Amino acid sequence: MTSFFRTTLIAAAALTAGAAFAQSTGKIKVGLMLPATGTYAALGVAIENGFKLFVAEQGGKLGGREVEYVKVDDESDPAKATDNVNKLVKRDNVDVLVGSVHSGVAMAMAKVAKDTGTLLIVPNAGADAVTGAMCAPNIFRSSFSNWQPGYAMGEVVAKKGLKTVVTITWKYAAGDESVRGFKDAFEKAGGKVTKELSLPFPNVEFQALLTEIAAAKPDAVYTFFSGGGAVKFVKDYAAAGLKGKIPLYGAFVTDGTLEAQGADAEGIFSTLHYADNLNNPRDKAFRLAYAKTYKLQPDVFAVQGYDAAQILGVGLVAVKGDTSKKAEFAAAVEKAKIDSPRGAFTLSKAHNPVQDIYLRKVVGMENQVVSIASKSLADPARGCKM
Ligand code: BEZ
Repeated sequence: MTSFFRTTLIAAAALTAGAAFAQSTGKIKVGLMLPATGTYAALGVAIENGFKLFVAEQGGKLGGREVEYVKVDDESDPAKATDNVNKLVKRDNVDVLVGSVHSGVAMAMAKVAKDTGTLLIVPNAGADAVTGAMCAPNIFRSSFSNWQPGYAMGEVVAKKGLKTVVTITWKYAAGDESVRGFKDAFEKAGGKVTKELSLPFPNVEFQALLTEIAAAKPDAVYTFFSGGGAVKFVKDYAAAGLKGKIPLYGAFVTDGTLEAQGADAEGIFSTLHYADNLNNPRDKAFRLAYAKTYKLQPDVFAVQGYDAAQILGVGLVAVKGDTSKKAEFAAAVEKAKIDSPRGAFTLSKAHNPVQDIYLRKVVGMENQVVSIASKSLADPARGCKM
């Protein structure tokens, strides 16, 4: 071997070793892609708070590496999502992506994560495809699939002996899939969804649709709205004279919104993987720490952010901070039991939580547990080939 080649080989080896060293030491860059504006802004804040709380509890480090954040306001706008996520991956060189709230934005993130191999942890968006057709070894979710709470509520409403339901939601993946989950269970049990009403995200002009509901006189209404839109929907439902006449069942419609909804939310039933009075020791400690740190009560979104950081922590500990070891990272997370405030959960083969879904009722300013609607519910992971 000539001395030129020997020198080149040594230089290349040094570069490779340097890159590997950089991947397992120094700060770990977390790209937080969440909404800071628009109807889902408060959800983004709660997720970030929850994530940072867990990291702070670990002394600011995960897997031995100090955590640093690069933030993007995704505005819950799928049209801007690919550009936003590419900036985080290509310009900012983040080690891991965390986001987002909106299903359409999360699908764009999943595509980039799949194409580039970047680790992605989804701390809210329920798009079924993220842990379905788009599933990948480097993509994880700490929240739910849109199908899960919908399916659990379909069983609840059928068991109550109600026969006809009108659904109302935003026309995009989260609304469509939530309704699909509801229908899967409700119609299997003999019920009938007689009308599916929707409006484009994030519109809140509900009046004409509420008039249609009043005329249709179903036994019940099933809805998915969240954030600012959910506040307005619950208020408009009451103002239209429907509260107390046609029972309203939902997913997310009363989470993080009770103060703004006030008495109009009282008595609403919903299904979700968290509630405000679980009273298990893990949740009590979490709620106390969250309230102390942020002077706010946590909600389901804060829990999902906290658990996204827990998932990242499990993986990083297993690979000693080396994010290039994707297979070992995934193997550790797949084996783990995540000690969540919602109750411990595991991830399915498609990397979506297998979890209890609670039936909750609004009492005062709380989503209080009534029962477990669905024990250890797993998403069907339609189309996942992993
Ligand atoms: C979604 O777009 O997947 C979503 C947004 C807010 C709450 C729940 C789900």
